[in-house]
Amino acid sequence: MILATLLAILTFLAVVPVHAQTGIIVPLYSYPETSATWEPLETAITTYPDVQFYVIVNPDSGPGPTDTNYQAAVATLHGYANVLLVGYVYTSNGARPLDEVQQDINTYAAWPSASSLAGIFFDETQAGLTSTYTAYTDAARNATWPGRTTAYVILNPGTDIGDSDYYTFADQIVTFEDTYDRYQTLAPLPLPHPAQQSFIMNSFDGTDETLASLVQAFQTSGLASAYITDLTTDFYKSFGSDWTAFVEDVNTET
Ligand SMILES: *[C@@H]1O[C@H](CO)[C@@H](O)[C@H](O)[C@H]1NC(C)=O
Repeated sequence: MILATLLAILTFLAVVPVHAQTGIIVPLYSYPETSATWEPLETAITTYPDVQFYVIVNPDSGPGPTDTNYQAAVATLHGYANVLLVGYVYTSNGARPLDEVQQDINTYAAWPSASSLAGIFFDETQAGLTSTYTAYTDAARNATWPGRTTAYVILNPGTDIGDSDYYTFADQIVTFEDTYDRYQTLAPLPLPHPAQQSFIMNSFDGTDETLASLVQAFQTSGLASAYITDLTTDFYKSFGSDWTAFVEDVNTET
């Protein structure tokens, strides 16, 4: 009887689909001129509820002055269970004064609830400056984020950070941001903390099969998130022609 129950449970577990593990990180640096600008993203979010999206919003290389048009566009991406919105803050490789960084953070944290964010994306992260980046991160965590107990924090050195201390205070670290050519030159990339690592790749010129196997390799290694675009300039100003295939692959290759 017990054995039969166990077998039934095991059979059940075997057929339950495994959710996509590697999420999609989206540097959303385009300005929402019309509702069509961000539509490919909204479509992907609603079509693939099992894929986790980490969306970096960036009104003006930071929060910029209050822009209700921008915030209204963010509201269209807001409230989905599979979306985490973070605000772009530059750090000038650690040289940016804490009070300036804090001001950007507090501006984002004060956005209206319909477009409220979950945390911060710190660009231009510099290795070897853990105390500086701990302070920036603390500033993000100290702010009040509607509906959350603490900020979600992503650091972007764009390369292997080396120092594993950074992984103790960041949720995710982008350890590759470069071309697909460069990726091929460097691969295999160091994966000291795959569940907290993210890769952002531009100028992808491989086949659909190559794209699918890249995504599959990310899933197998347990990478937290990735972004691949075939755009060769203004990579984050629009979605590349491979966007839909990439999202489908992330959804499929679990
Ligand atoms: C964050 O809050 C802690 C505890 O209140 C405080 O010690 C720290 O100075 C704060 N840091 C920043 C950067 O605001």
